[in-house]
Amino acid sequence: MKKNKKIYIETYGCQMNISDSEIVASILTVNGYDYTHDLNAADIIFINTCSIRENAEDRVRKRLQYFKSLRKMNPDLLIGLLGCMADRTKTALMEEEQLLDLVAGPDSYRHLPQLLEQVGTGSRAIDTILSVDETYADIKPVRLDSNGVSAFISIMRGCENYCSYCVVPSTRGQERSRDAASIIRESLDLFEKGYREITLLGQNVNSYTWKTGDRSITFASLLEQIAGINPLMRIRFATSHPKDISDELLQTIARHPNLCKAIHLPVQSGSNHMLGLMNRKYTREQYQERILAIRNIIPGCAISTDIITGFCGETENDHLDTLSMMEWVGYDTAFMFKYSERPLTLAADTMKDDVPEEVKDRRLKEIIDLQQRLSFANNQEDVGKTFEILVEGKSKRSDRQYFGRNSQNKVAVFTKTQSGPGEYVMVKINSATSATLLGEVV
Ligand code: 5AD
Ligand code: SF4
Repeated sequence: MKKNKKIYIETYGCQMNISDSEIVASILTVNGYDYTHDLNAADIIFINTCSIRENAEDRVRKRLQYFKSLRKMNPDLLIGLLGCMADRTKTALMEEEQLLDLVAGPDSYRHLPQLLEQVGTGSRAIDTILSVDETYADIKPVRLDSNGVSAFISIMRGCENYCSYCVVPSTRGQERSRDAASIIRESLDLFEKGYREITLLGQNVNSYTWKTGDRSITFASLLEQIAGINPLMRIRFATSHPKDISDELLQTIARHPNLCKAIHLPVQSGSNHMLGLMNRKYTREQYQERILAIRNIIPGCAISTDIITGFCGETENDHLDTLSMMEWVGYDTAFMFKYSERPLTLAADTMKDDVPEEVKDRRLKEIIDLQQRLSFANNQEDVGKTFEILVEGKSKRSDRQYFGRNSQNKVAVFTKTQSGPGEYVMVKINSATSATLLGEVV
């Protein structure tokens, strides 16, 4: 395959996938390809895919049909599929629908240059083998679509929690942590380039562990070391599993002002019956105990969550348990989903997806309506308070306004000042909607 070809990557799914696309861009640009932000200028289009829910896969299929139509104008256009859909859909999409030239799974990105060479010789290329040790630790990601202020750093890959509804253990393989020294180097490098906020990513960051000599670095000690790089560097992380978010971690967050006071703690359901079937390994009461620990150790900490409604066998009472849990915690924000059965999961193999679609729809609406009220009420509590905001850029609505976030990850919009993106300003909040705080620089 001739070098200097232009690649374009479109990313679906989670933050981890955004980070992976940056790794792919790095591997390919180091190998002589150019990155373009213009889909129409691309010689090779990659689509980095997500399998978490059926509609995520449907969206990718539609997009691939569109890319295929671009081949009419550019017969040499190559199309590659990356990420979580790679293994499961490779045969169907490649053979039956003739949509793809190349397929690479989440642990195969180092082989992309060779795979592209293979495609250049006229054959199709597939590599979806999962690895037990690949972490791309030495790859310096190319920051795509960056605001120059915030960036993602992957600190681990894979997942071994085996929640019964979840496809991730089968698409991303075994859990493995990345070399701590390489994470710290990447954080330092970002700070020196002017970045002021990093988000450490992993499917379950609390189980991060790295051995150096006879010492084990835990997630709390990793956070502590990154926090020490510079007090102007904010650190966030996602995602935590409620079963192993420790007091040690909470105390570390409380001790460092630059460790953000926002914890994403997916509850999935408020019903013990559902939590058991979901294989979440905690009860409603244990989850509540962790919330009390957060409130106690980190006062003013924002808490967000993920919720699945309509899981196998969910009764009206189970649903009411979820609503009452949401009220009890008073979440600041939530991602809320209808259960979608995924192949190769315990639920697909052993349980019945028996909640009718219209019941799922109605329950989801009740959950979203409740969260809207909770977010609005939480944001009203912030009116009159002053927060340190990291400026991210111009507000979408007006050129005269900036937007940024407070430590609690809430978006604030305020009149522009001399301090620009990457700088901190103190903003007094005058009003709020359920999604945004509005204020003025003081
Ligand atoms: N159906 C619906 N939502 C799901 N999630 C994971 N698997 C499924 C599924 N099969 C949700 C969970 C998870 C988030 C990333 O996606 O809430 O925390
Ligand atoms: Fe991310 Fe999970 Fe979707 Fe894979 S399936 S892209 S890990 S959300």
